[in-house]
Amino acid sequence: MSVVLVTGASSGIGAAIAIAFAEEGWDVMAAGRNEGRLEEVADVSDNIATWAGELSGSEDCDELVSDTIDEFGSLDCLVNSAGILLHADASETSDDDWLDTIAVNLSVPFFLSRTAIPQLRRTEGSIVNIASYWGLQAGKGVPAYCASKGGLIMLTRALAVDTAADGIRVNAICPGGVDTPMLAASADEAGMDTEEFFGVVAGGSPNGRISTPEDIAALTLFLASDAAMQITGTAIPVDGGLSAAD
Ligand SMILES: NC(=O)c1ccc[n+]([C@@H]2O[C@H](COP(=O)([O-])OP(=O)(O)OC[C@H]3O[C@@H](n4cnc5c(N)ncnc54)[C@H](O)[C@@H]3O)[C@@H](O)[C@H]2O)c1
Repeated sequence: MSVVLVTGASSGIGAAIAIAFAEEGWDVMAAGRNEGRLEEVADVSDNIATWAGELSGSEDCDELVSDTIDEFGSLDCLVNSAGILLHADASETSDDDWLDTIAVNLSVPFFLSRTAIPQLRRTEGSIVNIASYWGLQAGKGVPAYCASKGGLIMLTRALAVDTAADGIRVNAICPGGVDTPMLAASADEAGMDTEEFFGVVAGGSPNGRISTPEDIAALTLFLASDAAMQITGTAIPVDGGLSAAD
């Protein structure tokens, strides 16, 4: 059985990815901060084990990969979905805000990848990074987030180049607006009702639709599969045509 490790699996996109892989018969290590919500995800399938904890430094990341190997014996795919979004322009971004955003959105994917790569070499596995439309195009009032996601896309490409000869593939997905608690928090930030805000986000996409977490999970599953054998180093938008229209 193939094994996937998914971060941010207690919520939104990460939860949908963990469930989608389990439904396809993968063994899943679902890592997240919220133990209660992780248990709800694990209740969906017997294939899902959980790991509850904060990820910030390399020690946490090494421990998570090592616990995954202890649980399932190998690793075929690492999905970096944990992330934070700070709405603050540069003048409002404190040192800690900047460092936290870079830590969760960029350093943690790096630390996890570094420790996962020797395992992935054995299985000719892959890494999928959940980046963002805002890693391709700049948004207003989100410089730390844009820098972290732009960095994650370049980390994806650099690791893809370095590991291709080992049969490892590394790809990024760049979602536009996705119906998750993160986007709902952005509605609060904008002082708007969630439904009204989601309508504005959907209206910004050429297809007039907001993405679901399952839209992102479907591409993640494809990128982790043998059908995507020839795909590495990409940053694929899932945004209803938003980036095509820029
Ligand atoms: N929702 C969107 O519109 C959207 C758009 C583009 C990209 N993304 C990206 O998709 C990913 C998933 O976001 P989401 O929308 O599901 O948001 P979410 O807030 O629902 O989920 C984020 C998850 O990351 C986890 N997390 C945050 N900091 C962590 C830490 N230090 N250690 C461990 N876990 C931590 C949270 O606990 C949560 O489970 C993020 O990387 C986000 O940047 C989201």
